[in-house]
Amino acid sequence: MNPCPKFSNVIEVILTVLLVGLQGVRIGECRVATRLDDLEYPAISCRKHSAVLTDFGGVGDGKTSNTKAFHCAISNLSHYASDGGALLVVPPGKWLTGSFNLTSHFTLFLQNEATILASQDESEWPALPVLPSYGRGRDAPDGRFSSLIFGTNLTDVVITGYNGTIDGQGSYWWDKFHKGELKLTRPYMIEIMFSDHIQISNLTLINSPSWFVHPIYSSDIIIQGLTILAPVDSPNTDGIDPDSCSNTRIEDCYIVSGDDCVAVKSGWDDYGIKFGMPSQHIIIRRLEYNVTYSARLEGIDNDPFTGICISNVTIHSGEKKLQWNCTDIEGVSSNVYPKPCELLPQKEEKIACPYPDDKVPIESVQLKTCSFESVSYF
Ligand SMILES: *[C@@H]1O[C@H](CO)[C@@H](O)[C@H](O)[C@H]1NC(C)=O
Ligand SMILES: *[C@@H]1O[C@H](CO)[C@@H](O)[C@H](O)[C@H]1NC(C)=O
Ligand SMILES: *[C@@H]1O[C@H](CO)[C@@H](O)[C@H](O)[C@H]1NC(C)=O
Ligand SMILES: *[C@@H]1O[C@H](CO)[C@@H](O)[C@H](O)[C@H]1NC(C)=O
Ligand SMILES: *[C@@H]1O[C@H](CO)[C@@H](O)[C@H](O)[C@H]1NC(C)=O
Ligand SMILES: *[C@@H]1O[C@H](CO)[C@@H](O)[C@H](O)[C@H]1NC(C)=O
Ligand SMILES: *[C@@H]1O[C@H](CO)[C@@H](O)[C@H](O)[C@H]1NC(C)=O
Ligand SMILES: *[C@@H]1O[C@H](CO)[C@@H](O)[C@H](O)[C@H]1NC(C)=O
Repeated sequence: MNPCPKFSNVIEVILTVLLVGLQGVRIGECRVATRLDDLEYPAISCRKHSAVLTDFGGVGDGKTSNTKAFHCAISNLSHYASDGGALLVVPPGKWLTGSFNLTSHFTLFLQNEATILASQDESEWPALPVLPSYGRGRDAPDGRFSSLIFGTNLTDVVITGYNGTIDGQGSYWWDKFHKGELKLTRPYMIEIMFSDHIQISNLTLINSPSWFVHPIYSSDIIIQGLTILAPVDSPNTDGIDPDSCSNTRIEDCYIVSGDDCVAVKSGWDDYGIKFGMPSQHIIIRRLEYNVTYSARLEGIDNDPFTGICISNVTIHSGEKKLQWNCTDIEGVSSNVYPKPCELLPQKEEKIACPYPDDKVPIESVQLKTCSFESVSYF
């Protein structure tokens, strides 16, 4: 990528605009960022520094590529990692971009009415090696596209907003998948690898090329307040897939997708077993599921999944006659509606599941109230 140009600060931009204006040139297309009042938001850590995507040449017209602007902004702000960290504001507008990488002690903040649009130009998506616990790519064996928003070997990263939107423009990738034209595995929307202290919150995520949120080999993760939407017939558009992750809290999300809403993973089949990094200590609560039947619980022939206990669950689902489809499992249930399968016999109302007594540490993490100066245009 070309070196990042130095961008002058806002006051210099205003002066330039005024000068150009005095010379009688039409400046109708020119938009200048103005700083407004402080905006408050909840986060695991606040940041000392902040910048706006437009400081780095970003153009929010939905057509201009901002891949370089994101790259330049984040590489500039990475210099503040040891000095209180930095926040990058994505202001109102449509910001087309290819894949970009995050940095540590960093917050990406999407203002209300800010939309990040994923590019459909494959040259904007670098290839990455396959995941070690997957052994091969899922759509194509040889490799995979980097996710839209990618981070590896990081600590203390926040992706949040006032319900700003990330639009994966997935139809391009879904078509290629259906036609068998993919040479690499489709990108995910957000993937964070080998990292800790991660927050992803208060965003609307739509139409990911494949899975939406994929934290892998990571810990100390809070995911909350996400609205995730993809057509129910879109391929493999899982909502949130914590994969070989621990100490993770997923809550207050609304998910409609073409596949799993939340799927806890530990790699893929034999490759995952060989890699040997389980997912553990995960809390999932207050999710809204748009489901057609209650559950399909499928163990392994001659090696059933045991010790399953489901209690205090009421599922509002579709009208399918077969609500529970269970094979090769063993367990109990208590206070569950609709009535579970016979492999999960109902115990008396008072018998709850024997939850482990140890608290998952992420449960007691309180978010701080942070603030920064918001931005609009004139
Ligand atoms: C980061 O950007 C600011 C202005 O936006 C500039 O003054 C500074 O030199 C840049 N830092 C680096 C390391 O490029
Ligand atoms: C992000 O980082 C990975 C390596 O960690 C690299 O392969 C990839 O090219 C980077 N992506 C971008 C857009 O720079
Ligand atoms: C990231 O961390 C993993 C696991 O600790 C390590 O194998 C890998 O080399 C690290 N990658 C980078 C780019 O530092
Ligand atoms: C966020 O935006 C989505 C889509 O516009 C909307 O359905 C949802 O209710 C919003 N959530 C909040 C908390 O405002
Ligand atoms: C973020 O979402 C949570 C619900 O998960 C809500 O309580 C909070 O007010 C939201 N914050 C902002 C800044 O939108
Ligand atoms: C949820 O799914 C049901 C059927 O699966 C569908 O009828 C309904 O429209 C979906 N809701 C949304 C918001 O997509
Ligand atoms: C029940 O699940 C089994 C596999 O576990 C599957 O083969 C079968 O098609 C399912 N039945 C229905 C009616 O969905
Ligand atoms: C289930 O609900 C009952 C009655 O409200 C309550 O006593 C019990 O603690 C609940 N069990 C769990 C595991 O939350």
